[in-house]
Formats: sequence, C-alpha cells, structure tokens
Amino acid sequence: MRDLDSDIFLGVFLGAPNMPGSTYHVPVMARQVKAYLQPAPGMLFLDATAGGGGHSALLLQSGAEVIGLDQDPRALEECRETLQGFGPKARFVESNFREAGETLDEIGETRPLNGALLDIGVSSHQLDEAERGFSLLRDGPLDMRMSPRATQSAADVVNTLSAGELTRIFQNYGEEQNARRIAAKIVEIRDTHPLKTTFDLANAVESASPRRGPKHPATKVFQALRIHVNDELDALRHALQAIPSRLAPGARLAVITFHSLEDRIVKVFFREHSREWIDRPEWPKARRNPDRLFKLLTPHPITPSESEVQRNPRSRSAKLRVVEKI
Ligand SMILES: C[S@@+](CC[C@H](N)C(=O)[O-])C[C@H]1O[C@@H](n2cnc3c(N)ncnc32)[C@H](O)[C@@H]1O
Repeated sequence: MRDLDSDIFLGVFLGAPNMPGSTYHVPVMARQVKAYLQPAPGMLFLDATAGGGGHSALLLQSGAEVIGLDQDPRALEECRETLQGFGPKARFVESNFREAGETLDEIGETRPLNGALLDIGVSSHQLDEAERGFSLLRDGPLDMRMSPRATQSAADVVNTLSAGELTRIFQNYGEEQNARRIAAKIVEIRDTHPLKTTFDLANAVESASPRRGPKHPATKVFQALRIHVNDELDALRHALQAIPSRLAPGARLAVITFHSLEDRIVKVFFREHSREWIDRPEWPKARRNPDRLFKLLTPHPITPSESEVQRNPRSRSAKLRVVEKI
C-alpha cells in the first residue's frame, strides 16, 4: 500500500524551490492540513507559525498565496531563503500571532483570507539548537525565548521568582505533581550559584524528583517554563479571537497543538463558537448562539498516522482541529 504521508512529505520538501531534502522542520500532518485547507490558485492563506516553511511550501505548491508570520526572525530567514522561488506569492513577516490582525493591517493586506493555520509550539530546529535553551537533552544557556523581543529568559525566571511563583508555573503550565518540591530545590541551589544552563536546571529537577520512567523528570518543568517565558497560552487565546474576523465565509482555520493545555483552549473556543444552540437551566427553551462563527469540521481531533509518528516521532502528540467560517 502506498504511504500517502510519505508522498506528501517528499512532495513538500522535494517540490519546494531551494528545499532539496531540507530538514529544518518536518511539517506535521501535511496530508491532513492540505485536505482540510484545500489550497488552490487564487487563494490567500495565513500561516501564522511559518517555522521552517514546511506548511507554507505545501500551500504555495498548490498555487495559493501565503502570508507567513513567526516571532522568531531566524525562522523567517530560513523561510525567505528556502521559499524565495515562489516570488511575491510568499511573504514572511516577523510578528507574534497574537497581533495577526494588526500585522495584516500594517502590511496593507485587506483581502479576506481563504484559510489560516496555526501550528503551535517550537520547531525541531529551535529544539535542536543548543544555544536556544529549549531542550533538556542539549546543554546550552537557559534561554527559551522564541522572540528576541521577549524580556525574560528562562534563567531570569528560575533565578528571580519566589518558590511560590515557580510552583504555580510548574503546576499550571506543566501539570507537574512535584512542583512544590522542585521549586524549593531550585531556590536552595540558586542561593549558592544561579542556574545558568539547561543542564543546571535538568540536574536540579532530577535531584528533587528522581527518574521513574523513560521520560526525563524535568520534561514538564521545561514545558512549563517555555510556556511562561513566551506567554504561549495567552498568545493562542488572542490569536483565536483575532484571526476569525479576517476569514472569508467558507474559509477554514486549522490549529495543530502539541499538549493538552493548548488543545483544551482550542477545543473550548471552537465548541463555543460553533454550537448552533445554547441552553441554560433557567431558560424556558434553548436559544440561538449569538457567538456562532463556525461550522466544526473535526468533532474529534485528527492525529498523525502510525507511519508519520514512526518517521517523525515529534509528531506523536499532535492534534489537529479545524473549523469553517460561516
Ligand atoms: C511547530 S513550528 C511551525 C512549523 C511550520 N508549520 C513548518 O511546517 O515548518 C512553530 C513555529 O511557531 C513560532 N511561534 C510560536 N509561537 C508564536 C507566536 N505567538 N507568534 C508567532 N510565531 C510563533 C515558533 O517560533 C516556531 O517557529
């Protein structure tokens, strides 16, 4: 049997100008994203998380026009270089997607969008670059800022916040059960020497919360700090509010998330804005939902195929949800 995901993967990378086998970031669920967004010539898409340009390439190859945003200027450099062959059909702009509406205004783009994609989180490239400080497997400065405009690095956070504040971050953004113990250990260690590197933090967490399974005990703490440093959940909420008003009727909004906190935000937002009726116990009968914006196309999230997970293990926790503007 043909492996459609592999076909798409090769198509994205071998078909894109200047992209012969690029491995900057393998686009997740490329086949499913293409099937839902249905790119075609004459259409305009917003790729709000351009990253390595994998999904943008997929849309551009179908003849569509793409405006790609990323808050990481290094990612944009990569996109501009690898996708320059698409000429003016591919525009890449440094922006936080929470300001997607303002950014479209600033570049003078008033046409309604025929679709939009958010592929949240960090790219493989960001994870693999030790000096960005995202990965607990690579020793580097404890940074984790996706954008040079972000004020606080992860090192600033762990070396200055109180034990209580760190506990809340680890609980709220990492769902870490040993949050209090880990925060206390960090405060104890930093009293003698500040935590400067990813390995300093990974070792501090491991000394408070010993390894129990195949996952490194600092995994959730790293996730939590990354979310806090980049204010990721709030940015997602703002983007979900901002993007729908720019969509043409019938245009689709696709969101790929990688952990339950993000997925919950998307699930609830899509549900609240796609229900036709709402009911409350105190009402005599159900009423039409005044906030309805969408038709929900994915009552259950779409997940990658087994073959995709085998080929790209980082896709394993991805969930795709899609709505259509009414
Ligand atoms: C998973 S990667 C996207 C990969 C891309 N779809 C591809 O196929 O190459 C996520 C990207 O989103 C960017 N990003 C994350 N949060 C952002 C935000 N709030 N605003 C703009 N870009 C953001 C990151 O810098 C990263 O480059």
